[in-house]
Amino acid sequence: MELRIRRLLTMFVMLALFFVALGCEKMDRSLGPEGKPVQNTSFLQDEEATSKEEKIKIGFSMDTLEEERWLRDRALFKAAVESLGAEVEILAANGDDALQVLQAETLISQGVDLLVVVPHNAEAAATIVKKAHLAGIKVLSYDRLIKNAEIDLYVSFDNERVGELQAEAITKIVPKGKYVYIGGADTDNNAHLFKKGVFHVLQPLIDKGDITVVYDQWTKNWLPSNAYANMQEALIANEGKIDAVIAANDATAGMAIEALMETGLAGKIPVAGQDAELAAAQRIVEGTQTMTVYKPIPTLAEEAARLAVAMARGEFIDTDRKVNNGKVEVPSVLLPPIAVNRSNMDETVIADGFHSKVDVYKGETR
Ligand code: GAL
Repeated sequence: MELRIRRLLTMFVMLALFFVALGCEKMDRSLGPEGKPVQNTSFLQDEEATSKEEKIKIGFSMDTLEEERWLRDRALFKAAVESLGAEVEILAANGDDALQVLQAETLISQGVDLLVVVPHNAEAAATIVKKAHLAGIKVLSYDRLIKNAEIDLYVSFDNERVGELQAEAITKIVPKGKYVYIGGADTDNNAHLFKKGVFHVLQPLIDKGDITVVYDQWTKNWLPSNAYANMQEALIANEGKIDAVIAANDATAGMAIEALMETGLAGKIPVAGQDAELAAAQRIVEGTQTMTVYKPIPTLAEEAARLAVAMARGEFIDTDRKVNNGKVEVPSVLLPPIAVNRSNMDETVIADGFHSKVDVYKGETR
């Protein structure tokens, strides 16, 4: 019995000595060259290293930063991901398909846990999904749907509803007449959804003979200069005799209004846009643009970040909607867009802080 106690005691002493030695060793490193005690950070660094390793990393592959909204998406998505304790790497391809694939490959090779993609070209981006899945990385389609690929989640606004809101607002003012449709980029699935929504509303009036669509063109790469050329072409082809314009976003609406301005028609012809850009909000309160469709980007960015981080953590994401992208029924979250004109500008865009009253009214108090 006595022998056993002695053995136990010896072991205890040896263990205590071992831990003291460990502490001293760390202490050694905490004494600076002058022997002055310094902040003992080594185990902190270890802890940081391990938590950094475990930190979820999201890759965000964006088409472009051309339009005002994408700068907002980028900043808000980054902030939302970081507020969830994860990190994000963002690359933008400036409308170049090959570059977007290359950038996605870079993010995949960096070992991101999940890839979020705003595709420039809905079809061409399918190869990104294949590459990500080969690396065991899931893909979330942000705002724009990737077609014919097995994407894991789609988060956007109800883009057909965007088109319906535009056409409902304009047909209320111009129930009969000649319409010009300035579409978006036909490589962008959203442009097709916006147009589908617009013609949902126009078709019955077209069938009745009340409305004629005298011009209908896509805007290559969403470039405002292409929209300007389209609008000039429409004015020339119809000798300026048009009654309404529906443009797929505010950047293209702004250039259509430029062309109308040159023929003295700005402010006389109702024009619809989308995105609630500041310049559009200003045009609406001035009267040269009739309405825009406001899509609260903070809601989209936060929802996409929440779902991306959850999916990267291996959580199962259940959605009440599915969208067929030509290959699979994609679990989807589609947020409601909001029609904005002069009468509800303050209660929507300004109330949300999307733009300030001073900016929209250019400092005038109304
Ligand atoms: C669409 C997007 C719009 C618009 C456009 C141009 O996909 O939904 O908000 O701005 O792209 O980038």
